[in-house]
Formats: sequence, structure tokens, C-alpha cells
Amino acid sequence: MYPIVEAKLLAPDVKLFRIHAPRVARKRKAGQFVIIRIDEHGERIPLTIADSDDQGNITIIVQGVGKTTKWLNTLNTGDTILDVVGPLGEESEIGNFGTVVVIGGGVGTAIAYPTAVAMKQAGSRVISIVGARNKELLILEEELQATSDELCIMTDDGSYGEQGFVTQKLQELIDRGETIARVLAIGPIPMMRAVADVTREKGIKTIVSLNPIMVDGTGMCGGCRVQVGGKSKFACVDGPEFDAHDVDFEILIQRNSLYKDQEQKSLEQFES
Ligand code: FAD
Ligand code: FES
Repeated sequence: MYPIVEAKLLAPDVKLFRIHAPRVARKRKAGQFVIIRIDEHGERIPLTIADSDDQGNITIIVQGVGKTTKWLNTLNTGDTILDVVGPLGEESEIGNFGTVVVIGGGVGTAIAYPTAVAMKQAGSRVISIVGARNKELLILEEELQATSDELCIMTDDGSYGEQGFVTQKLQELIDRGETIARVLAIGPIPMMRAVADVTREKGIKTIVSLNPIMVDGTGMCGGCRVQVGGKSKFACVDGPEFDAHDVDFEILIQRNSLYKDQEQKSLEQFES
């Protein structure tokens, strides 16, 4: 059993949990994730490790989108989680690359945050672009401010920062002559695909963190198969980060919508 030592709401339907999981906390690297199961009736879902501390706690940030994430977000300090398996996946490639643009869309900001921190610590100049539908949904602003040389906030409705999409800001940076060594983009699939389209023609190396459906997280079930550079890869062991210009986003979208009806039914049952 893994106790929740802190739970706090960051935005509507987005909750931060600090969970006591000392072995995971000790080993985890930026870009890695855990697979959790709330209790013996629960399904396994992958969640990125946003942070860890010396007391053996890991931080996860959860957006309630369906049954399990909404169920998780009902838990509070003192509650427990049955399984926390990890750290899983390959760690992010970190280094002093020059200027790195880290782009987070929605809860993707939580997934991008540990890599932004590690890049900064390694000596890269970090420009962060964070996108949210509106001001209320913006997360980790203070944390990213502290770790970024420049922080650009974009909201769809202009309620905070500048109005527009993250790709507009990225294009602005390119147009103002920034020499960008690499881009890391994490968020909804259409956002990652749009970022890849902007950087492809400029030849800017771009990394995305893919979010296919995962079950075991250890390369055994084949559930997380993605097409990268014309080859089948398992995102849980070969990724989750891949070169955006090699990713077949169309297949990813198709595979992620395979269980839409079942997911909807399961959420309705949970909420009734
Ligand atoms: P459902 O209604 O079952 O599904 C909603 C959508 O979530 C689906 O359409 C599908 O696209 C996706 N999904 C469903 N089941 C899975 C599954 N087993 N594995 C992956 N995706 C699934 N979300 C966060 O809020 N914070 C994170 O830090 C985070 N990190 C992730 C890291 C990785 C490596 C991956 C692959 C996903 C991550 N996600 C994260 C997404 C999160 O796993 C899904 O939102 C969650 O599984 C949805 O489950 P559900 O039962 O709430 O919703
Ligand atoms: Fe089973 Fe990746 S989740 S192979």
C-alpha cells in the first residue's frame, strides 16, 4: 500500500498527489512514469513522475478525464493506493544543448516540467511555452518561472498571458532569430503534431512524449504499440519520448480511440 502524504487541487479536475514510494523516488529520472492501480478492482493507468523528494515521496499530477483519473482525484491525504509500479520508460535525453524550448499543453505541462528542470540543471537555456484553454486551467506557473530563462503563457481565450496557441509563440521565437537546438512538446496529440509541423521545415530536433493506451508498462502486452520511423515501437519501453518528425500521429489517434464507447460507459457507471 502506498500512502498519499499530500493531495491538493491545482485547477478544476487537476490534482497533485505526493505519494510515499521510496524505491521509485530513489531511482526515478526525468521523463519516466509509474503505472498505478487504486485497488484490486481498478485498472492500471500510467502517470508521469513530476517530481520526487528526499523523504521518499513522488509527485504525480492527474487530470480527471475518465473513470480511473476521476476516481483517483476523489482521494485525499491519508488515503492509499494499492500498486505504484515504476519507474518505467526511458529517461529523457538531458544535456547542455544550448537553447531548448519546452512546450506543455494542459496537463502535458506536468509531464514536461521534470524535463525542463533537468535541462536547466544540465546547463541548457530553457524557454518554456505553456498553453491552456483559460487562466483557471493553467498549472505549475511558479515552478516553471523558477526553472525557465523565459516563460511564455498562452491561453486560447486570452484570459491570461497572450491569446493564441503554443505554436504561434514557437513561430514567433523562430522569427525573432532564436537558435533553437531542440524542442520538447508534451500535450494533446493535435498540439504535438502541430509543433512537429512547425519545426520540421526548419530542421529543429523535436521530441514528443506519446500517450498510447498502456496496460503492463513492461513491453509484454503490446498495448502501447506506436509507429515511429516506419517501425513498430512499444512506447512503455522504447519511449515514451520519440522524435516527433518520425511519429505516425494518425495511427496514434486511431488506436487511442479504439475503446471510446467502453470508456464512456465506464465513466457513466462510475458517476451514476
Ligand atoms: P478513460 O475514459 O479510460 O480514457 C480516457 C482517455 O485516456 C482514452 O481515450 C485514452 O486516450 C487514455 N487512456 C485510457 N486508458 C489508458 C491507459 N491505460 N494508458 C494510457 N492512456 C489511457 N495523465 C495525467 O493526468 N497526468 C500524467 O502525468 C500522465 N502521464 C502519462 C504518461 C504516459 C506515459 C501515458 C501513456 C499517459 C499519461 N497520462 C497522464 C494519461 C493517463 O494515463 C490517462 O488520462 C488515463 O489512463 C485515463 O484513464 P481513465 O480511466 O481516467 O479514462
Ligand atoms: Fe504493454 Fe507497453 S504497455 S507493451
